[in-house]
Amino acid sequence: MEEQVKKKKVLSLIQPSGTPTLGNYLGALKNWNEIAEEYDCAFGVADLHAITVRQDPAKFREQIRNMYALLIAIGLDPEKNILFVQSQVPTHAQLAWILDCYTQFGEMSRMTQFKDKSKTHADNVNVGLFAYPALMAADILLYQADLVPVGADQKQHLEIARDIADRFNGIYGQTFTSPEPLFVKEGARVMSLADPTKKMSKSDANPKGFISMLDTPDVIMKKFKSAVTDSDACVKYAEGKDGVNNLMSIYSACTGKSYDAIEAEFAGKGYGDFKVAVAEAAIEELRPVQDKFNQLINERAYLEDCMKQNAEIATKISQRTLDKAMKKIGFYQFKG
Ligand code: TYM
Repeated sequence: MEEQVKKKKVLSLIQPSGTPTLGNYLGALKNWNEIAEEYDCAFGVADLHAITVRQDPAKFREQIRNMYALLIAIGLDPEKNILFVQSQVPTHAQLAWILDCYTQFGEMSRMTQFKDKSKTHADNVNVGLFAYPALMAADILLYQADLVPVGADQKQHLEIARDIADRFNGIYGQTFTSPEPLFVKEGARVMSLADPTKKMSKSDANPKGFISMLDTPDVIMKKFKSAVTDSDACVKYAEGKDGVNNLMSIYSACTGKSYDAIEAEFAGKGYGDFKVAVAEAAIEELRPVQDKFNQLINERAYLEDCMKQNAEIATKISQRTLDKAMKKIGFYQFKG
């Protein structure tokens, strides 16, 4: 009899806190599509995470639907992968509370994202923002994920998810799979076009800093043309050339060309030509996704059907892990 090789499990989520950026695409979404070919995957819209920052209700609803449609538009098949909206799967919030009680105040206080966001949202430093990594750990551990594809900015959150899993397993015996991160080579940290020392973020107040996945070709071209570089006029990957390094990394992630090949291609040319080439590569990269998105976003009934079916599947799978954890802790179990 032929032996069935069990595929590794993969899980990742993205927040619907605005239209995702080229950073989200190159650091995460683009690769999810490739990963889905190889692994047993669950991908989700992290709407519970998004309310750690105040959201406008009407816009929020639209962003959740857009993000869900984008997951399908990048090529993920909702029949073959689990594509869910986090708030539609009640186990996430339930396990998050439990994990809160197995996470120390001190270790949460070290999270750099919490420190950064407490500064940018100083008027709303809520407990959810602080406990955010325990919810993220719940997302991952519920599906017994072996691998979690994320951009470099999520490294610390992945480490704490592993620590929480190991701690729980240490107390109660094997309950959760200890997850490993899966980083992409190029595009793992796409930087702001306006300030290349900061990561490209969909919540940046300066729209020139980020390319949204739904920006029109004209807007993409304009934003790349105004990208911050330096006065060297030399396309070369080197320390201190943050702006150029970022553009090279984007160009490489979009075209598959190595840094050496890019340096050779633009030898003796100015930044003007280079920026146009990067913009064109990004436009071509996003074009098929935008076309599919524009078609899908009007198919509301189809999207809602996919959401409902997938929420049911996700609930069923994750409930098994939640039940196991609750039993180990000693929550009351019915005999009959
Ligand atoms: P989020 O929504 O900020 O980003 C989604 C994914 O995009 C990656 N990313 C980037 N990659 C490269 N360059 C950038 N400038 C850039 N900005 C974002 C992120 O690393 C991420 O992979 N907490 C997570 C969402 C989450 C999650 C999870 C992820 C919730 N639960 C469970 C994995 C597993 C977040 O805020 O990602």
